[in-house]
Amino acid sequence: MTAFALDWINLAIRWFHIIVGIAWIGASFHFVWLDFSLRAREGMAKGVYGSSWLVHGGGFYHVEKYLVAPETLPHDLHWFKWEAYLTFLTGFALLVVQYYWNASAFLVDPAVLQMTAGEAIIISVLTLLGGWIAYDLLCRSPIGERTGLLAVCVFALIVGAAYLFGQVFSGRGAFIHVGAMVGTMMAANVFRVIIPNQKKITASLLAGEAPDPKLGKIGKQRSLHNNYLTLPVLLFMVSNHYPFLYAHPRAWLVVALIVLSGGMIRHFLNRVDAGDTPASVVWALPVAALALIVAIYWTSPTPQAPQAGGVTDAAISQIVTTHCVMCHAAKPTHQAFKGAEPPKGVMLDTLDGVRKNAAQILAQAVQGRAMPLGNETGITDADRATLGAWLAQQ
Ligand code: HEC
Repeated sequence: MTAFALDWINLAIRWFHIIVGIAWIGASFHFVWLDFSLRAREGMAKGVYGSSWLVHGGGFYHVEKYLVAPETLPHDLHWFKWEAYLTFLTGFALLVVQYYWNASAFLVDPAVLQMTAGEAIIISVLTLLGGWIAYDLLCRSPIGERTGLLAVCVFALIVGAAYLFGQVFSGRGAFIHVGAMVGTMMAANVFRVIIPNQKKITASLLAGEAPDPKLGKIGKQRSLHNNYLTLPVLLFMVSNHYPFLYAHPRAWLVVALIVLSGGMIRHFLNRVDAGDTPASVVWALPVAALALIVAIYWTSPTPQAPQAGGVTDAAISQIVTTHCVMCHAAKPTHQAFKGAEPPKGVMLDTLDGVRKNAAQILAQAVQGRAMPLGNETGITDADRATLGAWLAQQ
């Protein structure tokens, strides 16, 4: 029952998280596009930097951007912040129910590092906070004024963090933490920089003073960072369904390739929106493609070597009974799943069940190390290889 209830809570939070995440990223795409599409036109009002014409939903929109701000403040000003805040809050809640609740299963892999669930959770919270502090300091330092150098440093920060996560957490735990850390940076950009700066601008206007243009510029820089990080972060958020991503012994390099690839695709789109000729930025696409191809090559499975004399069915029954069936049976006997459906409906109590799930088992337990959950049963690499060899025989 608890497993069932937890699954529903998990699903409800996930649903919420996806909805607000779409709203946030949609707004981010739209506003960055809008900014790049602004053009100076004849007869613009005082303080207008540029305007854009849009057609959508049966009508035309004419949007003007004031830099820094209009002379008087409209009373019905729309703010865009709750999308970001709620995405963070639901994301953190999801981290709690999915990873902290069962930390010893999902976050800790004794083969990577022996630690208690409590220790894993503390490390998780501290690194999310630490990632934001390090990124924020970088942006505020003199490096923050040099866009190219800053991009390289933020890239190095993310890849470095991925390396460290790989030294402490399970493979999937490490990948979700890359996503969570970057997502935290993005939400904190909104909460700590973009909105506060906007509020200072509004306060100056209300006080009848000229707002400091630097505030708007910094807000814009952070919002552009968020835009570049959206594509990689989305991939990290779904990474746990693809064990080949984090099964690689140097999974942090896969992280580097994903950030590079997503960032380059975003760069191409942004520059074209800004009015650059596609030819002048088209170089970004082969770079993105090459990064992906290298990632695909690296993560491709090594063929399972057949074992001399073949693997007997009895040997496989023995392995799955010892390491899988307590959770993956019609009626699981494992404490955490008693009285509930087997996880993901995967039943391995017959050899037919094992055959039916061959591809998933290969990904989860042979090439990847996601199963058995948290390696509670201490399966050996030799047993994993035997399982792989038997699946290849089928
Ligand atoms: C302690 C319980 C437990 C044990 C033992 C266990 N699993 Fe799992 N298994 C789970 C849970 C929980 C999930 C769902 C994971 C998730 O939510 O991503 C799962 C999911 C799976 C999936 C489906 C993955 C997907 O995303 O559809 C496969 C395949 C699988 N396990 C195979 C195995 C194999 C093979 C073994 C034995 C070597 C094993 N499991 C041992 C709990 C267990």
